Amino acid sequence: MTPDELLARADAAAANAYAPYSNYQVGAAVLARDGRVIAGANVENAAYPLGVCAERSAIARAASEGLRPGDLEAVAITASPCGGCRQWLHEWRFERVHFRRADGTVATYAADELLPETWDLPEG
Ligand code: THU
Repeated sequence: MTPDELLARADAAAANAYAPYSNYQVGAAVLARDGRVIAGANVENAAYPLGVCAERSAIARAASEGLRPGDLEAVAITASPCGGCRQWLHEWRFERVHFRRADGTVATYAADELLPETWDLPEG
């Protein structure tokens, strides 16, 4: 699946966003190593901080289907991932993160590049 195809799945998911407070619809689609594509959208709440970003929504769906860090190879997002989502992308060890910049161009990074020298649980 090409980055553009994965991004098209993210665009389709964005149409299902529940974003009545920001009116900013975001979609994300993750590509599993077994070929599955699992998409998610942002889901807001009247208690604003409780809203869930599209990336986390997609990853939570993947986790709920039994997938684990290392099982997901790529993700496409309709917008640049926020700082908190970058920590999630790091946890799930995506090889490739594609997102649409504000100017419409598509950026591609490894998850580690989006959060260099990130915090992790100390070894034990
Ligand atoms: N949002 C995402 O879904 N993903 C991000 O990485 C950035 C922000 C959502 C959260 C909120 O519903 C809306 O965009 C406006 O911040």
